Amino acid sequence: MTESAANPLETLVSLCKRRGFVFQSSEIYGGINAVYDFGPLGVRLRRRIRDAWWREIVDLRDDVEGLETAILMNPTVWEASGHLTNFSDPLVDCLGACHQRWRADQLEGTTCPNCGGPLSQPRQFNLMFKTFIGPVDDESAVVYLRPETAQGIFVNFKNVVNSSRQRIPFGIAQIGRSFRNEISTGNFIFRLRELEMMELEWFCQPGQDAQWFEYWCEQRLSWHEALGLKREHLRLRPHGEHEKAHYALASSDIEYRFPWGWGELEGIARRGDFDLRRHQEVSGKDLQYTDPSTNERYLPYVVEPSLGVDRTFLALLLDAYAEEEVRGETRVVLHLKADMAPFQVAVLPLSKKPELMDLARRVEKELRQQFSTEYDDTQSIGRRYRRQDEIGTPLAITIDFDSLEDHSATIRDRDTMEQVRVPLEQLASACADKVGAGR
Ligand code: GAP
Repeated sequence: MTESAANPLETLVSLCKRRGFVFQSSEIYGGINAVYDFGPLGVRLRRRIRDAWWREIVDLRDDVEGLETAILMNPTVWEASGHLTNFSDPLVDCLGACHQRWRADQLEGTTCPNCGGPLSQPRQFNLMFKTFIGPVDDESAVVYLRPETAQGIFVNFKNVVNSSRQRIPFGIAQIGRSFRNEISTGNFIFRLRELEMMELEWFCQPGQDAQWFEYWCEQRLSWHEALGLKREHLRLRPHGEHEKAHYALASSDIEYRFPWGWGELEGIARRGDFDLRRHQEVSGKDLQYTDPSTNERYLPYVVEPSLGVDRTFLALLLDAYAEEEVRGETRVVLHLKADMAPFQVAVLPLSKKPELMDLARRVEKELRQQFSTEYDDTQSIGRRYRRQDEIGTPLAITIDFDSLEDHSATIRDRDTMEQVRVPLEQLASACADKVGAGR
């Protein structure tokens, strides 16, 4: 039987800290708002998410190239892209007792939700972080931390066309950190000030972008399902006129049903030729594409699926989390898909007897070549199974006293808790049957 936790987000936050998925950044100094660090298990899960995206978007296709661009860019980029003028949220200040700041478009009443005080008139607050480049900290040295990775792709469009053999339609993909000085934060890692994005800019002929937009919406939705998110927790929601970003002709969000309601997981936008046109105008460089068969010259239109690593991480953990009644006790289990789990196989000697530990270590070292493994000889076997369930390890191999005699071990399945006895030399293939070929 599966029950959901009374407060799913709080429960998950505590599991993430206890088991080493997520820590608050600079915690010993009281933390810093909306910035988080990822612990030993968190980095494993994040790497799996990035790898799954890269494999699908770049490795399994021959029409997408990868790119890695710098976080700092010439500040004129942000003038051209419209971010300096438009990448802002309306901000109001509490003029009463608490002086708290709020996003005007998210308020329901006309007074401060915290202390009931009056509110100031809204003003636009730019979400880009500013810093200075070089030793002079005056206005001429201002640069910005990028708020999206997309602009690094647009300004390199010509470089990629000229250095690769790609012809339109084709895409350029990038994974990297972005920064947004969000006004309203909260809900753990849902809205961060330092985040990681996985973005694809898909360049196509003008007039064909509507079809490609449909294509990418479908592709992306199936990808989230394949990752393990439940279909009933996903939906595609087209944006209303007032919601679209300044660059978008049309856009839709893939939303996930978070504990507090539906929220954006991935944004898919038709950016038209907005970005290339603006960069061409402001830089004075010709960014047109020349069709090699017709010699036709044009600025391609862009369709952009853009996804946050952090939100995917949160959705995967929320979706995988279950509390189950087993023989009168509650066990916590993460039903992550095997290729997403931080570890695929745990190897556990039944006791600390040296012969058992030796054999278990040897087994683990061998399996390590093929799977992500963990060796654990602490505490009772029951507690170790519970820990592996709680971090989502699909298989646990127990080396017991009989193993020394019959050269076999027990494989326990996380989801069914069934145990099967397998000869040591067949462990790798038995694991592969259950969790796939391995990493
Ligand atoms: N280049 C397109 C773009 O920036 P966006 O909808 O603003 O579009 C894309 O962001 C994705 O990045 C979102 O769907 C979300 O997954 C993630 N994201 C955006 N802001 C975020 C934040 N403050 N914290 C965590 N993830 C965020």
